[in-house]
Amino acid sequence: MKVITTIQELREIIEKTNKRQQTIGFVPTMGFLHEGHRALMKQARKENDILVLSIFVNPLQFGPTEDLDRYPRDFERDQKIAETEGVDILFYPSVAEMYPNELSVSVVVKKMTDVLCGRTRPGHFDGVATVLTKLFHLVQPTKAYFGKKDAQQLAIVESLVKDFHFPLQIIAVNTIREEDGLAKSSRNVYLTDRERVEAPELYQSLQMGVEMIQAGETNPHKIISGIKDRIANKTSGEIDYVSLLSYPELEEFESINGSYIIALAVKFSRARLIDNIIMNRD
Ligand code: PAF
Repeated sequence: MKVITTIQELREIIEKTNKRQQTIGFVPTMGFLHEGHRALMKQARKENDILVLSIFVNPLQFGPTEDLDRYPRDFERDQKIAETEGVDILFYPSVAEMYPNELSVSVVVKKMTDVLCGRTRPGHFDGVATVLTKLFHLVQPTKAYFGKKDAQQLAIVESLVKDFHFPLQIIAVNTIREEDGLAKSSRNVYLTDRERVEAPELYQSLQMGVEMIQAGETNPHKIISGIKDRIANKTSGEIDYVSLLSYPELEEFESINGSYIIALAVKFSRARLIDNIIMNRD
């Protein structure tokens, strides 16, 4: 595995890869790698000649109240994980390398941002879309891999690629779950013993929502309140949101049709957990 910190070096390697007509699988991350990232790397490893992983904590996607300096980092550990997962090129640029000057142009996401987690993170997805635009140009991947756990990011990235005609395919990778259904997350360790026992209820509540739809319920409000009641009765978490939206448009609807997402965020004492299910009514 080659660790590359400059854009110049990356360009040279990508040029060679292109000359050899090798396919490139790309997994963009902000490091502190976990099971979810491993799943992305595993799939990308299987499907491509070359596997590129980027680790870059992108300042543009942090709001003024979100502490960029406190974002967890452990490059040595990440490097070992990347090696185990068969990464060929680990792109690890500094902020100065990625943003040598204040940008005079940036990408603004105009739809899908005022719902789910985007509601409380203004500007976040502009930062994500801007850095991915740069990374996609630099890495020139054949396929780029994103987790379904962050479904809003996935939907926005799919639009970015479509709207700007990036010649690459976005691969959506299923959420990795514990045996009891709890979505794997580095935040799960912050749950108390009691909260850890309660937490699988989140996924079970989402599944209950799907069952209601499959049983013929089409009114989103009834499904959302069914899920909220169950979470309130069976957990000590505080519900941030439960939403039922069309997917991938992320729009509210009065009657469910076609593809939809049921997503939730619940705050426990020291961890805010998110989860979702994307389904098609038909
Ligand atoms: O999901 C993340 O880790 C980040 O939002 C991403 C896609 C690497 C962009 O900085």
